[in-house]
Amino acid sequence: MDRLSPLHTPEEIGAAVRRIAARLDADFRDTRPILVGVLKGAFVFLADLARAMTVPAEIDFVRAASYGKGTETSGKVVLLMDMDIPVAGRSVVLVDDIVDSGLTLDFLRRMIEGRGPRDVRICALLDKPSRRQVHVPIDYLGFTVPDRFVVGYGIDYQERHRTLPGVFTLDQD
Ligand code: IMP
Ligand code: MG
Repeated sequence: MDRLSPLHTPEEIGAAVRRIAARLDADFRDTRPILVGVLKGAFVFLADLARAMTVPAEIDFVRAASYGKGTETSGKVVLLMDMDIPVAGRSVVLVDDIVDSGLTLDFLRRMIEGRGPRDVRICALLDKPSRRQVHVPIDYLGFTVPDRFVVGYGIDYQERHRTLPGVFTLDQD
């Protein structure tokens, strides 16, 4: 059975989303950014973030995988689905749920940077720095979390718990 312990309440997350949205509004006052959500985990965060912004962003998605069935990364990232808005000359914000090893966002940032955007920034709800394998500059961050497996607010364990409104740590019996 999965045992869940609350880590961040929906209210705390909402406050973090509004704080990040205000910074994005300020930083992109003069340009329409493309918010690129990393599926599937970022879908809730991206939806809330985009609606908390007043700057009209464009929305796209990529899907990448570095995880096998368990909770350990395989170390190899594969692109499962590409975005379709052209990024040349545009400001791109990669939006992900959690930065763990950093391999996924490092891979995606390099991929998008190779297409000649104006700039690429990284926005993550959660940062788990204890497990980093490659440096990823996180420009917009919600919370730093301990070295625990987390679920909720879009984040799953084997497709479970994504729809919970808060973030929880998961322990298995
Ligand atoms: P990476 O290790 O930084 O490449 O993390 C890639 C992806 O693994 C994240 O975007 C999440 O979707 C997933 N992930 C990392 N840590 C956790 C966790 O604690 N719970 C659920 N998914 C996670
Ligand atoms: Mg993810």
